[in-house]
Amino acid sequence: MAIVQPSVFLKLQSGKLTGDQVLKSQKKLKDLEGVFQDEQIRAALPQESLIYEVQAFMPIAEGKSGGLFFGNSTIYPGKIGAEYHMTRGHFHSNLDTGEYYWGVKGEGILIMMDEDRNVWAEEMSEGSVHYIPGKVAHRVANVGEELLVFNACWPSDAGHDYATIAEKGFAARLVEVDGEPKLVDS
Ligand code: PA5
Ligand code: NI
Repeated sequence: MAIVQPSVFLKLQSGKLTGDQVLKSQKKLKDLEGVFQDEQIRAALPQESLIYEVQAFMPIAEGKSGGLFFGNSTIYPGKIGAEYHMTRGHFHSNLDTGEYYWGVKGEGILIMMDEDRNVWAEEMSEGSVHYIPGKVAHRVANVGEELLVFNACWPSDAGHDYATIAEKGFAARLVEVDGEPKLVDS
């Protein structure tokens, strides 16, 4: 019976995943039309700027139940107008699935919204653990001056519903007011 090497490693200092099976995707400013409040500013900035990237280890087919996926997200620091760089955010397509996020480095804020559009948020930092219940949309903003890195674990049949957020947005946005992050009605 063979004892084999794992196919994927997590660099604990950086939160990065390595291994042949790790998928990678990037979101540049040109991919984020309509995500930020000030679309005019977004459209006027250099469109090739990298805003965030995601690595994912998905050992079974997406949509199949019973498995777990593992991811690493890195959000570059910056703002679009007063609004911090952030992920698009989504509900899970299979609404009754939750997710764990945990902070690896940097300073972030996890913004959550339930189906009644109630919004709340949690500070993210190295070692912070965040349980995202089912039926709750989630997005993360980098509110620091360094990279924000967090890891995630979610069910293989969760799926991503981006359309609802693209259509209706979150009921609040995270903007800088007097040098501090503030959640304001949108
Ligand atoms: O599974 C997750 O919730 C994360 O891995 C996100 O997909 C990642 O942070 C990128 O955000 P979004 O999918 O909203 O663009
Ligand atoms: Ni998710």
